[in-house]
Amino acid sequence: MTMEKPKLFAIGPVYVNEKVRNEMSRQMFSHRSNTYRELHSSLVQKLKKLMKTNNEILIFTSSSSGIMEACARNLVKGDEKVLCISCGAFGERFGKIFELNGKNVKILSNEWGKANLPDEIDNALSEDTYALVTLIHNETSTGLMNPLKEISDVVKKHNVLFAVDTVSSMGGANVNVDDYGIDICFFGSQKCLATPPGIAIGSVSNRALSKSKEVKNKGFYLNFEILKKSNDKNETPVTPPIPQMFAMSMSIDLIFEEGHENVVERHKNIAKFVRDRIKDIGFEIFPDENFASQTLTCADFENFKKAYPKFDVNVMKEEMKKRGFILANGYGKIKDKTFRIGNMGNVMKDDVKEMLDNLEEVVNMFKPKFDT
Ligand SMILES: Cc1ncc(COP(=O)(O)O)c(C=O)c1O
Repeated sequence: MTMEKPKLFAIGPVYVNEKVRNEMSRQMFSHRSNTYRELHSSLVQKLKKLMKTNNEILIFTSSSSGIMEACARNLVKGDEKVLCISCGAFGERFGKIFELNGKNVKILSNEWGKANLPDEIDNALSEDTYALVTLIHNETSTGLMNPLKEISDVVKKHNVLFAVDTVSSMGGANVNVDDYGIDICFFGSQKCLATPPGIAIGSVSNRALSKSKEVKNKGFYLNFEILKKSNDKNETPVTPPIPQMFAMSMSIDLIFEEGHENVVERHKNIAKFVRDRIKDIGFEIFPDENFASQTLTCADFENFKKAYPKFDVNVMKEEMKKRGFILANGYGKIKDKTFRIGNMGNVMKDDVKEMLDNLEEVVNMFKPKFDT
């Protein structure tokens, strides 16, 4: 099944298919009713299967940044230290969130586009004592996927809580929460789960829940203890986004219908196909290709622009938009030399092929003009 036009090759919110959209038009009911509790409980069970975990699944009435903030509020006491591993804009954002919450943060930062490697993390964790280490699995700003399994193997050697942002990878990549020993793993609805925005999910280990009990002044809205208490009754402490919950539930059903492994494989193959065509067209891949993301591609046009100085990425994107294809801007400090193509959720090979054929035509059409 292909997408309708305009075809969104966005980074999130992404294209939502009709079945999932329809789930959002159901009549509402009280969030303190058995009907709600059934929805809550069944979504939690599906999420456990998707995330491969027996940890507590907490439903946040926020976007993913709410769970980043929750990590800062719940998991770090007084002057305990946090190690934030970064190789792009979202790694930096995670560190900033801890800083803004007055926490003692060390940022282990790599050049944008270079992966965070297990040895570097092992060394950093050996050099000092940390209460928590944070990682961005899929750095959406640079289109890079960190080697999560290998990193989790080294983190396990240290007595430290492990928080992993799988915001733009969960559902589209292999993330095995329990096997990797991830204490807090989180994502939002609007990326690979192809659900409208407005809800975020976090799995929280017993170790993390116990730690949260020791931390004071956690506030109300993002407090793991309060969330857990309600979760035990299949409820959320505040009014939940019921339409998004129905939609997410359907999205997960569709993932299992296609086969979770097949969905992951499809993302991987399509991302490789996009990278190959992008290079054929004349652009470069921004991140180290050995760690290229399987849910999006970050194309680097800096050298292309040197060869064709009149190249204008906005003109290219506008022409693509006229043809019915929406591409994403670059992000953060590389936004003026990159653009991004998402393949999260329901993006199929035929959609991508059609879009790339058009992109090639558009770029070729403009090339002679750039030359003169
Ligand atoms: C890797 C990553 N982490 C966190 C976020 C923040 O998500 P939100 O804006 O939904 O809070 C994003 C958003 O794109 C992201 O890509």
